[in-house]
Amino acid sequence: MKEIGIASAPGKVILGGEHSVVYGFPALVAAINLRAKVHATLLPDEGIEIIAPDLGIRQIYTYDEAFNVKEISINHATDNIAFAVYQLLEYLMKTGIHDTKRGVSIQVNSEIPISSGLGSSAAVAVASIGAISDLFDQELDKELISKLAFQGEIIAHGTPSGVDNTAAAFGGVMLFEKGNMQWLDQVQELPILICNTKVPRETKRLVSAVRERYKRHENLVGKILDTMGQVVREMMHGFDDKNILGELMEINQGLLASIGVSHETIEKICWIAKSNGALGAKLTGAGGGGCVIILPKDEENAQVIKGKLEKEGYDIFSTSLSIKGLLIGNGE
Ligand code: PMV
Repeated sequence: MKEIGIASAPGKVILGGEHSVVYGFPALVAAINLRAKVHATLLPDEGIEIIAPDLGIRQIYTYDEAFNVKEISINHATDNIAFAVYQLLEYLMKTGIHDTKRGVSIQVNSEIPISSGLGSSAAVAVASIGAISDLFDQELDKELISKLAFQGEIIAHGTPSGVDNTAAAFGGVMLFEKGNMQWLDQVQELPILICNTKVPRETKRLVSAVRERYKRHENLVGKILDTMGQVVREMMHGFDDKNILGELMEINQGLLASIGVSHETIEKICWIAKSNGALGAKLTGAGGGGCVIILPKDEENAQVIKGKLEKEGYDIFSTSLSIKGLLIGNGE
């Protein structure tokens, strides 16, 4: 047992294939270098404490409350984390590693904006489970950690695909198709810009709006979704060529707009990025708001685009696609 357990895990972006993935087509998903960091310590008594100083959150759950989180909904921002942490404690109790008398406190510091489609809740869950396993000096395999975090994702999102917790645990760039993941080899840390529209959106509502459009225009929308799948396959093969990748991002954005999930602000950001030299720009995730990803030509071009968007009042940050998933201890 250590005095303190430490871990961090990345957020994610969807490079291509959001929405069409719901219909069984592939999506290309990448972990990003924005991370949630968690410190875990033991409490004197039982329970689960979650502290997020940046969000002004301090929440304490009894084991019963954490276990029954679906019904009680104490705090939307932390319930899913409490549930995932409880799943881990139960596993540690069953395997005789931990007794029930002392609970855990986790302190979360995250660089990932919340509720914007960047997988913040999964990253926090994965990092929390990693930090607690570090506290108890246990090396849990990433598959198990991802599975436990997925339990929290079910609380947060209803029927999640499992992409967020997988990216947070394993990192890298992966093709996600019908529940299976295939990682791309030898991916470099590709620099990208992420611009937050700050327009609130709800994944569930957007997914069901696409379904309605599909019902009304089955033939047309079916072809668009199929084309999105082809775009993703070409993205995967052309991943090393930034010009090709950028162009495919633009094509994907056009297709997403045609199924009704773009937004005036998304279009405006894409337009500013493109007219200032970006190789590609598109919404990422459910759309309707949330974040836009931008592929700049090079570092100099990234600075120009960043300056222009900041001048328009947008929140924009530089990051890169990350090969690193969960990191335990101070290995960041
Ligand atoms: O915005 P996010 O991260 O919730 O992504 C949603 C992606 C969709 O394809 C629209 C839905 C899904 O479950 O894959």
